[in-house]
This record gives sequence, structure tokens and C-alpha cells, in this order.
Amino acid sequence: MPGTQTGTRIRPLDELDIGAIVRIDERIGGIYRPEIWEQRVGYYLRRDPGASQVAEVDGTVVGFMLGDLRVGEFGLEEPAGWLERFGIDPDHRGRDLGRLMFGAMAEHFRSNGARSVRTLVDRRDATIAGFLRALGLGASPLEALEMPLEGEPR
Ligand SMILES: CC(C)(COP(=O)(O)OP(=O)(O)OC[C@H]1O[C@@H](n2cnc3c(N)ncnc32)[C@H](O)[C@@H]1OP(=O)(O)O)[C@@H](O)C(=O)NCCC(=O)NCCS
Repeated sequence: MPGTQTGTRIRPLDELDIGAIVRIDERIGGIYRPEIWEQRVGYYLRRDPGASQVAEVDGTVVGFMLGDLRVGEFGLEEPAGWLERFGIDPDHRGRDLGRLMFGAMAEHFRSNGARSVRTLVDRRDATIAGFLRALGLGASPLEALEMPLEGEPR
């Protein structure tokens, strides 16, 4: 695979990856959030073990991509893969690790009956939106709707 480093391996997420994901997230966003990732990793492993993926380079986890297969949410009966959170250590970008993790997730979704992969993106985030479009995700007939709620949270 062009651009891919020797020693690169894409494999399903497991519970022991929490520490590496916390470290990658901290490198990306500058905030140390172990509780959040402990909870999110547990959630995805319970919902759909085998869907979420990590990228290892020479035995170190340097990227993650989390998501799950869903049926029946929002009244959508057709199974679809949902891509929710991902991140790659800044030192390991531009080497197709994101594309490879996405390929492994798409294969998992396909082999479990999904015909599409869905996600939500903030159009103002050019990095994430550009990456997702490069992977082949485009406009959907589904529309995200929201309404601000006035007042202080109770
Ligand atoms: C988005 C991100 C995963 C992309 O990482 P990457 O190493 O560049 O990804 P890849 O090398 O796998 O790129 C795959 C494709 O996406 C393209 N791509 C990546 N970033 C892009 C961008 N900003 N705009 C357009 N295309 C982009 C690449 O050019 C490549 O296309 P190609 O194969 O046709 O050349 C990385 O920038 C990242 O982790 N960003 C931060 C994400 C974040 O904020 N996470 C918070 C925790 S949830």
C-alpha cells in the first residue's frame, strides 16, 4: 500500500486500547480525558464488538476509529454503519491509516448487512469534512435538524 509504513497493522479495538486513545486525544485536543474514553470505548465494545478499529505502528496504537452498526434508530429499518469518533496521532498522519481503518470498519458493516455508512459532520470543520469526503462519504437524503433551547439548564 503506497505511503503505508512497515509495521502497520489495523485491528479491532479492545479494552486495553483506552490508554492509547486517551493519549492520542490529548495530543489532538490538549485535554486529558480518561473517564470519557473509558466510557466511550466500553460503549462501542458492548454495542458492536469488531466494528471499531485501531491502527498500530510498530506495536504502538497511533490511531482509532469508533462506530457501530445500527438498526431501527430514528425509524430507519435498513441496517447502517455509523462512524462516530476518530483520531490519528499528528506524527502519523498522511499515511492512509484513516483510510485503512475506515476500510476495515466498512468491511465489518458490509458483512453484517449494512448497505451504507453514515455520520454527522460540522461543515465548518474543514479537516474532518475534507477527510470524510476523501473517503467517499457525501450528501445524504437524511437531514440533521436542531433547535437551540433557551434558558439555563435545570
Ligand atoms: C482527520 C484525520 C483522521 C485524517 O488523518 P490522515 O492521517 O490525514 O488520514 P489518511 O492519511 O488516512 O487520509 C485519507 C484520505 O483523506 C484525505 N484527507 C485527510 N485530511 C484531509 C483534509 N483535511 N481535507 C481533504 N482531504 C483530507 C487524504 O488526502 C487521503 O486521501 P487520499 O488517500 O485520496 O490521498 C486526522 O487529521 C485527525 O485525526 N484529525 C483530528 C480528528 C479529531 O479532532 N478527533 C477528535 C477526537 S474524536
